[in-house]
Amino acid sequence: MLNIDLTGHRAFVCGASKGIGAATAKAFADCGARVTLAARSLAELKQICEQLPGDGHQVLELDLAKTESIEKLLISTEIKTDPYTILVCNAGGPKAGALAEARLDSFADGFQTHVLANQTLVQTLLPGMISKKYGRVINIISTSVKVPIPNLGVSNTIRGAVASWAKSLANELGPFGITVNNVLPGFTETSRLEALVEAAGKRLGKSEDEVIALWKGSVPARRFAQPEETAVAISFLASPLASYINGINLPVDGGRTGTL
Ligand SMILES: NC(=O)c1ccc[n+]([C@@H]2O[C@H](COP(=O)([O-])OP(=O)(O)OC[C@H]3O[C@@H](n4cnc5c(N)ncnc54)[C@H](OP(=O)(O)O)[C@@H]3O)[C@@H](O)[C@H]2O)c1
Repeated sequence: MLNIDLTGHRAFVCGASKGIGAATAKAFADCGARVTLAARSLAELKQICEQLPGDGHQVLELDLAKTESIEKLLISTEIKTDPYTILVCNAGGPKAGALAEARLDSFADGFQTHVLANQTLVQTLLPGMISKKYGRVINIISTSVKVPIPNLGVSNTIRGAVASWAKSLANELGPFGITVNNVLPGFTETSRLEALVEAAGKRLGKSEDEVIALWKGSVPARRFAQPEETAVAISFLASPLASYINGINLPVDGGRTGTL
């Protein structure tokens, strides 16, 4: 029988206080990994961490917008003596809004929190992955790297940068037994989706229920995803089962994205 088995692995999951990141931390622990849960909300992280099965989990208060502190914080989790083999790069998405009206600091914030933070995380954890001859870098981005999403221009721009960064990195790190892949969530029931429904309602002059019905109707599955469904895909990519999958964009979107 095939199992997603992460026994013996240590995973660093960003954005683990809510949504897809929290579900991923739980799924990794269910698969036997020891997980470090990182985000800005320490109380929420602790609450999730306490419920994880198994031992050796920990929490880390980390703001991905402050790239200068990331390396120092990661080193405090004993990365040299006990290296991480799995890294999930994940943070909140840039705010919705018309691209033509977007301020330059929105781009700078997005680039900092997504591209520069990911680069810092990888550079800090890479020596450990190389020493273990095993590494999985999984970036949670968006289907917008395939089809740009209306009213999310800053996000579309930043996600595209992350996708190109990841593909370039996949080419470089493949020889070390390290894979780099992107997971592209579709509509997933989290606080991010609630914020997007609210913004779309205001923009389109519709109630939130109308927006939800419209969006569900655009998905072949006719429903939103639960974060746990995305977490299963992430766990698979993190596992030895996915050893020959490298440099891909994996939509977990119920079939919504209108391209191959
Ligand atoms: N849900 C969807 O429908 C959907 C669709 C497409 C793409 N996505 C993308 O998938 C990713 C995860 O989505 P989600 O729905 O799980 O989002 P979410 O529920 O808003 O959770 C985002 C997580 O990122 C953390 N975070 C945000 N800013 C951070 C920062 N500066 N430093 C450290 N942690 C930070 C948040 O924790 P703290 O606030 O505690 O820091 C939280 O744990 C996002 O990039 C989102 O845009 C989601």
